[in-house]
Amino acid sequence: MDLFEKCRGLFSDPTVAQAMGYPMNPQAFQAMGLYPYFIPLDQTEGTQVTVDGKRLVMIGSNNYLGLTAHPKVRQAAIDAVREFGTSCTGSRFLNGTLALHNELEERLARFVGKEKALVFSTGYQTNLGVLSALIGRGDVIIGDKENHASLVDGSRLALGRLLRFRHNDMEDLERALRACPSKAGRLVVVDGVFSMSGEIAPLPEIIPLCQKYGARLMVDDAHGVGVVGQGRGTAAHFGVTEDVDLIMGTFSKSFASIGGFIAGEETTVHWIKHLARSMIFSASLPAGNAAAALAALDVMESEPERVDRVNVIADRMRRGYRDLGYDVGESQTPIVPIMIGDQMKALKLWKALFEAGVYTNVVVPPAVPAGGALLRTSYMATHTDEEMDQVLAAFDEVGKTQGII
Ligand SMILES: Cc1ncc(COP(=O)(O)O)c(C=O)c1O
Repeated sequence: MDLFEKCRGLFSDPTVAQAMGYPMNPQAFQAMGLYPYFIPLDQTEGTQVTVDGKRLVMIGSNNYLGLTAHPKVRQAAIDAVREFGTSCTGSRFLNGTLALHNELEERLARFVGKEKALVFSTGYQTNLGVLSALIGRGDVIIGDKENHASLVDGSRLALGRLLRFRHNDMEDLERALRACPSKAGRLVVVDGVFSMSGEIAPLPEIIPLCQKYGARLMVDDAHGVGVVGQGRGTAAHFGVTEDVDLIMGTFSKSFASIGGFIAGEETTVHWIKHLARSMIFSASLPAGNAAAALAALDVMESEPERVDRVNVIADRMRRGYRDLGYDVGESQTPIVPIMIGDQMKALKLWKALFEAGVYTNVVVPPAVPAGGALLRTSYMATHTDEEMDQVLAAFDEVGKTQGII
């Protein structure tokens, strides 16, 4: 079939969307007023956004510490753009490394407790680069089934195999480790904080298994750094930094910027630096983003109360939702899912909340398994008590009207 003809099918033939795991084609979503994607924000000031002139409380962002609006972070980005311009126009490998990148790497390595760090242009590229550089033919990646898509895509790019184990299931992890060929290099990879459920990976149980089967451990801490372990991430949260070989982070969440990093032993980072094609063959992180991430790191160190505050807010919201009768799963972090199950119910709830002035993210198949639709809510250190009251009141009213609670 002609490739463009195939694409047209997504709009014209409902069975095409269904075959891809979507509940319906995009036009059908739109006709029902239930299309939840690519909504343009006119304004965003952190905890509040404006869409078509309507103000909404934002509980769908990863700006956990509220630093996108922090004056020091904004100023650092502006100053860097003035000094270095808008782009590095080249790879880290050649003309695209600034002293700022090196400073950021030194600071990050110290912050997460590792010898060296390496900065990439996005977190996605970090995972692609690390896994494809490290995992050669015959090696095995052992990954949690709920790991982020960038880890799955990195595994596809790597020459070795990917074995998946059931989410946070240690028996299944051991089964996968046992299934590795004896000579294979092994890397267990998990999200530190899982991006949809807000659950934390049980590192104190994973580490002994890695040690027993001679596997290295990489933690994608995109949602952990800045949020748990006094902001230093999941390994620090459990006090096991020494036993986590590689810590990955992104700047697109708590760091209020864009970019990513990997931190670990010097020689391993050196290897990755010279083999990670997603870094070598792509332009480096612009100065404004590097400076914003550095300033965010300053604020994380100088205002630790922000980390406490976002966790206090998340506790309050989890309690509030449970009291209203919602199922929030096993979340322990500022990501609080509202488990709905049926995708149409979830879409209608999302829409009604939007109309009531609350911006959430609705997650339907194929992003979650069939029957696992949810609203992903997430909190910022800068949310006010009034905003939280407003959100809970909206969930109360809309949930009752829709027969969900
Ligand atoms: C767990 C996890 N890893 C990696 C990434 C990719 O990060 P970035 O947005 O910096 O590309 C994300 C972002 O969605 C994430 O949630």
